[in-house]
Amino acid sequence: MKKSKKKKPDIVNKYTGESWVYTPAVKSHFFKPRNLLLENPKTTKYDAEGIVGSPACGDVMRVWLKIDAKTDRVKEFKWRTFGCASAIAATSMLSVMVSEKKGMKLDDAMKIKPQDITARLGGLPNRKIHCSVLGDKALRAAIQNWFKKTEQYDRIITESKRIIDLNTKTTDVDIEEAVLDGARTLQDVQKKTKVGIGYPECIPEVEELIRFYTEKYFGN
Ligand code: FES
Repeated sequence: MKKSKKKKPDIVNKYTGESWVYTPAVKSHFFKPRNLLLENPKTTKYDAEGIVGSPACGDVMRVWLKIDAKTDRVKEFKWRTFGCASAIAATSMLSVMVSEKKGMKLDDAMKIKPQDITARLGGLPNRKIHCSVLGDKALRAAIQNWFKKTEQYDRIITESKRIIDLNTKTTDVDIEEAVLDGARTLQDVQKKTKVGIGYPECIPEVEELIRFYTEKYFGN
């Protein structure tokens, strides 16, 4: 039987022994990002703007959109970040997905998930999934900004946080970020958030959320 050839890692961490392989699509979008702006544009140049930060690593993503009000489609998607290779590749791919063909309808663009982007990239290292959510979050923020500017208030979706632990004020978003940052067990999440340590009543809900976000982002 022919032995399957193991791919040569692109990065090996000499301290932990961990190695990462990046797909050709990730490398292509990282080394030659599409729709990237090297400077912040004049605010009047674009119809809408979205900005988000990653609590997992502190990086920031900004997105600017041109929108065709008649067709309700994205005409241009530009972006800028000082995030890592995975954030650059994922947002570059997202910018192509949203503006290709005639441009995506706003309702469809609002529904793009990090998995849709990583599927088009052929995958990302698990530790880097939190980087791929920056682009789609900033895109949603920019579309919400457009709805506000154009007074389409009925289309605004409030992504509110819910407090899970009344002592530490840990929210469902904090647990989501912990999972995106590599936590898979209650102990992992507690190391990052202290959730449930002084308020054990919330632990069943925390475990439920860990399962939910692990399935959502990693499919297992
Ligand atoms: S965007 Fe900060 S580590 Fe990837």
